[in-house]
Amino acid sequence: MKTLLLTTSEEDILKAAEIINNGGLVGMPTETVYGLAADALNPEAIKGIFRAKGRPSDNPLIVHIADINDIDKYGLVREFPESAKILAEKFWPGPLTMIMPKSDSVPFEVTAGLDSVAIRFPSHKGAQALIASSQKPLAAPSANLSGSPSPTTAAHVMKDLAGKIGAVIDGGDCEVGLESTVITLCTNPPTLLRPGKITLDQLREVLGEVNLSTAVLEKLKDTEEAPSPGMKYRHYAPKAKVCLVKAEDKAFYDFVNNKNNVLALCYDEDTENIKIPCITLGKKNNYEEEAKKLFAALREIDEHEDIETVYARCPDTDGVGMAVYNRLIRAAGFEVIDLYEQ
Ligand code: TXA
Ligand code: MG
Repeated sequence: MKTLLLTTSEEDILKAAEIINNGGLVGMPTETVYGLAADALNPEAIKGIFRAKGRPSDNPLIVHIADINDIDKYGLVREFPESAKILAEKFWPGPLTMIMPKSDSVPFEVTAGLDSVAIRFPSHKGAQALIASSQKPLAAPSANLSGSPSPTTAAHVMKDLAGKIGAVIDGGDCEVGLESTVITLCTNPPTLLRPGKITLDQLREVLGEVNLSTAVLEKLKDTEEAPSPGMKYRHYAPKAKVCLVKAEDKAFYDFVNNKNNVLALCYDEDTENIKIPCITLGKKNNYEEEAKKLFAALREIDEHEDIETVYARCPDTDGVGMAVYNRLIRAAGFEVIDLYEQ
């Protein structure tokens, strides 16, 4: 299959909507990361998403809408909790996904058999135009091969999925760079399942009590059930091994500088002190910039030859830092070296 590279022009959006309405798959720009979109009400199309990504069949998808009234229009939920309405008012359109009780209209292929459905109203105009033109709610996971870093450019999507999907709409570089914040309203109090640009503090400001799932920052024990299936899988990993390093500046430099075949994932301020190859995530303590650059950096690692291990500086977990830490620790398979303790 030839994968068309489309723009966000009206004409191209119509072409993409036609692909969706024929049961095909389209790489869709959003403000977080690119999604791989299909008609959420067409089970065969949904199966195509799982095949193209090589995604485990027990990992449910997010349903994207372009208007809050789409929830009623397509009958997506059994119940639209008051707390969800309040969050929608405050954060939609935007990088927040809410899990609610699913209706019978949503196929179990989308929710991987769960009785709840994840819904998001993205703010990216390209995504909104595609959803509106298709006149369908669109199921879309991140548009990467399962296990790879999520795509933040149309070129990333092409690299992973060209030949397997109908089209990619190039809507520019993703503004946020990390996937949406995921909160479930099926627990009382609600629980944050995946941190993102919308922070735990922002959610608590609006809702009062919000639990933080332990799996956000820690590895699930083998016996523990994942509150969100996506938490179980290794994610965002380049081919080289990634390891997080907790250390003061100088300790970090001394640790990496005497090693071979390694690369440092660090900050602009570090580069003059680091003698090995490095990739920076921008200035220190600028989590939003770090979020925006992280996935492209993880992909860039694979372009460096002979790199066996990547040592990454460890962000703090306050604010958007929690989202960066959550992705990095997964890329590292939860491997952390703590030089403060040695
Ligand atoms: O920003 C985003 O959310 C992007 C863009 C394309 O919108 N999408 C995205 O989708 O990141 P994906 O499939 O890569 O991640 C969705 C996460 C997974 O961890 C999945 O397990 C979880 O949401 N999820 C989806 N439905 C769920 C449900 N009903 N209950 C619990 N977790 C759910
Ligand atoms: Mg994903």
